[in-house]
Amino acid sequence: MISFDAAKSKLAECGQEHALRFWDGLGEAERDALLGQIETIDAESIKLMQSMLGTEPATAGEATIEPSPVVELAAIAEREATENLTELGCAALSGGTVGVVLVAGGQGSRLGFDGPKGAYSVGPISGASLFEIHARKVLALEQKFGAEIPFYIMTSQVNDAPTRAFFAENDNFDLAADRVLFFTQGMWPALDGDGKLMLDSPSHIFMSPDGHGGTLTALQQRGMFDDMDRRGIKTIFFFQVDNPLVEIADPAFLGLHVKEGADISIKVCSKRDPEEGLGIVARKGDRNIIVEYSELTPEQMHETLPDGNLKLRFGSVAIHVFSVPFLKQEAAAQLPLHVAHKKVPCLDASGTLVSPDSPNAYKFEKFIFDVVPDAKVAINVEFERANEFSPVKNAVGNDSPATCQRDMMLKAAGWLEACGVEVARDSEGGALHKIEIDPCFALGAADLAGKLGEGFAFDADLLLDASEDGC
Ligand code: UTP
Repeated sequence: MISFDAAKSKLAECGQEHALRFWDGLGEAERDALLGQIETIDAESIKLMQSMLGTEPATAGEATIEPSPVVELAAIAEREATENLTELGCAALSGGTVGVVLVAGGQGSRLGFDGPKGAYSVGPISGASLFEIHARKVLALEQKFGAEIPFYIMTSQVNDAPTRAFFAENDNFDLAADRVLFFTQGMWPALDGDGKLMLDSPSHIFMSPDGHGGTLTALQQRGMFDDMDRRGIKTIFFFQVDNPLVEIADPAFLGLHVKEGADISIKVCSKRDPEEGLGIVARKGDRNIIVEYSELTPEQMHETLPDGNLKLRFGSVAIHVFSVPFLKQEAAAQLPLHVAHKKVPCLDASGTLVSPDSPNAYKFEKFIFDVVPDAKVAINVEFERANEFSPVKNAVGNDSPATCQRDMMLKAAGWLEACGVEVARDSEGGALHKIEIDPCFALGAADLAGKLGEGFAFDADLLLDASEDGC
């Protein structure tokens, strides 16, 4: 543990001695906690953050950016048979060289759920949590390919203990315990308008998770790269906790990545509307980039082509495949910081906790997609949004539990119909009855057809709820 004197001089180096102003009134445990926090703070990073205050947020608009090429797996199939890609992906899975990284360290503030977002119940019939749905997909892949697939789950200090407890209470959703690996991301302080650290109690500096870009350092610092090396993992499928439609380790996507020797492959879809909060894939000079929506100029966001489509149309939904050597390389690189102006409750000069009415704090984050310009080979792969992306971000409205459940049921309805099962629809085309398919029963329409072909007795009660409300 850092000593008081060392903490004081570290803080002095970046003008933050005020963080120790309540020291004399603190008990021993509180002092240790505060010193522990100061130990994690890096004076150079604070100086960098201070230098960003008062500057306009970076906009890619200052530079010329052009749309990035996007491939469709279906179009490639016409050229060279998707089976080749699928076979390559299946071979990687059966060979035990694929791992899965789930980022679940976010705070889920828009959803407003009391607990890790992954514990949120979203299964239309089962009430399965997001974590359970993801875990059962990994389990189903292990069963299908007869291979071990390590499941690396990133948490933050805010939700690490409840996330581990949730998995423990549920026996890791039947996954082998040695293949469920939690790793904690870093935390960063926020700065007020004067570039000062903010205290939210006399012994605690306000800190928040360092963004999904923190995955890289966390993988390295928590020994996950060593674990990958021990297991012979060469390729990582990366995704976010809030999207239960994700096709984890989709073999054709993996296969394309492997075939092209890519550093990163990126699933992209057309933005729902110009202002949808997706980072867009683009090219700047000879480099691929992803630009966060908030860093586009209004002109870039809205510019259309003669055919009426948005010029910068393709958004990334943070479904990626990475090669492990590229992840390691990027863990050693310095990703840029992104700043956001937010409301943070903090102590005023008299030591009273105050909840501000307007933004009072600058929070800093790293984004995983800032690795893209460093990739020698980066592939953007278009996917059909309705099949693979419907996140739970907000409590109501777009991207809420209601829209996500609707889309989960539409996806299941599509599989059933592809197998010749008639599915009752409501007037808006949604599933009239609740439908849910357990990933361990079928991971796709082909699996479902196989089950039906094997003479599986199709029990409507398993799939259809008796209620007529259609959710
Ligand atoms: P989001 O920023 O969309 O969601 O993160 P959030 O942080 O969970 O919720 P809000 O913004 O507070 O409402 C997208 C994904 O990145 C992960 C999240 O857990 C989610 O899977 N993430 C985000 C991290 O793992 N760490 C972070 O620091 C930030």
